[in-house]
Amino acid sequence: MKFEIVVGSVLGASEYVAEAIKAQLEERKHQVVIHFEPNVDEVNFNNILIVVTSTHGAGDLPDNIQAFQSQLAKRTLNDIPFIVIGLGDSSYDTFCQGAITMEDTLLKGGARRLHPPIHIDVLHHPIPEDEAVIFMQKVLTTL
Ligand SMILES: Cc1cc2nc3c(=O)[nH]c(=O)nc-3n(C[C@H](O)[C@H](O)[C@H](O)COP(=O)(O)O)c2cc1C
Repeated sequence: MKFEIVVGSVLGASEYVAEAIKAQLEERKHQVVIHFEPNVDEVNFNNILIVVTSTHGAGDLPDNIQAFQSQLAKRTLNDIPFIVIGLGDSSYDTFCQGAITMEDTLLKGGARRLHPPIHIDVLHHPIPEDEAVIFMQKVLTTL
């Protein structure tokens, strides 16, 4: 299978998660492209989209993925298959709101959710990539 990983990150944790998933998928002979500065014109939407994003501010998406989200919101996303991995801290009321915003945007555009998202709480999981890899292992059995 072919995957496009789109990353929203301020401090780098979501980037580590994306790298870990890329390695995991490539080990299984899948093809993976990571977008650290996502732009809709550079993402191949024929492939499975994996969004890995944290939340900053008061429930905001990281700056580097905000333009991508607004671009997506203006598009018809007919049947684009996607998976969302959120990173957040449950001490905030807006826990993983960025991931929720991305999922809402994708669903509103008509994209197809392949699996319920994971919202990784970095307060309890200091190594979020471990949680993400376990999650992806489970997701892969369903694809
Ligand atoms: C200034 C600041 C604001 C944050 N706001 C939220 C928030 O509203 N909701 C949430 O779930 N996590 C929030 N977090 C936690 C981050 O999402 C979490 O630390 C995440 O692992 C950062 O990932 P990144 O390194 O990829 O940006 C915030 C962190 C910081 C430093």
